[in-house]
Amino acid sequence: MIFDSHAHYYAAAFDQDRNELLRKMNREQEVTTIVCPAENMLSSVKCVELAEEYDFIYAAVGVHPCYADSWNDDSIEELEKLLRHEKIVALGEMGLDYYRRDDNRDVQKRAFTEQLALASSKKMPVIIHDREAHGDMYDILWHYRPEGVMHCFSGSVELAREALQLGLYIGLGGSVTAVNAVRPVEVAKYVPLDRLVLETDAPYLIPRIYRTGENKYKRCESWMIRYVAQFIADLRGMETDQLLEITARNASNLYRIK
Ligand code: NI
Repeated sequence: MIFDSHAHYYAAAFDQDRNELLRKMNREQEVTTIVCPAENMLSSVKCVELAEEYDFIYAAVGVHPCYADSWNDDSIEELEKLLRHEKIVALGEMGLDYYRRDDNRDVQKRAFTEQLALASSKKMPVIIHDREAHGDMYDILWHYRPEGVMHCFSGSVELAREALQLGLYIGLGGSVTAVNAVRPVEVAKYVPLDRLVLETDAPYLIPRIYRTGENKYKRCESWMIRYVAQFIADLRGMETDQLLEITARNASNLYRIK
């Protein structure tokens, strides 16, 4: 049982074989559920289309901090229109990314906080992206207190503790398996089992063993979560299938998928 809590299957990297890949993973590689989060308005529409086409795919809609410049006075209304679709389970991804851009912090904060306010009014969970913006991020989170997940968590154990105090889930994926992954490994050992979800962030973040040699892949795919689960299960001294099952249940709770 594999629940990929975060994968971008509208990405161009899947244009050649999207349908074959998705069907195969669902039929033969135990990928039972995928949540597809957006990055901007265009991909929000694409996520909804994927959710309409595949019964095991659910969508999130929202504007990623790297597209914060596209946020305007009409954005909330556009998202609200999309939210009428029943297979939208969250808003996102949204957040702050001062690694890729540090010159438009106020623009990023506006897009983020307006989406948090929308999520709160709709009582929906959010998918949060935080890259090198921890200070502003946690100030904003304590103010808005959203339900949701810190996706591809990259912070320290202390920050994980704070996210857990806020009631958020912690999303981990391929970066836990990187050679230099010290903090993610500590976090993978630390997070309580009922607050952990697994994700690929496909097509990005390929787990280490699929990056080199004969097994080399050019993109990340949801079935690779089994290796991430095995890696984390080993760290925690438990069975891979048990971890897959528990994290799938957590993701269902997070996104309220029955
Ligand atoms: Ni992502």
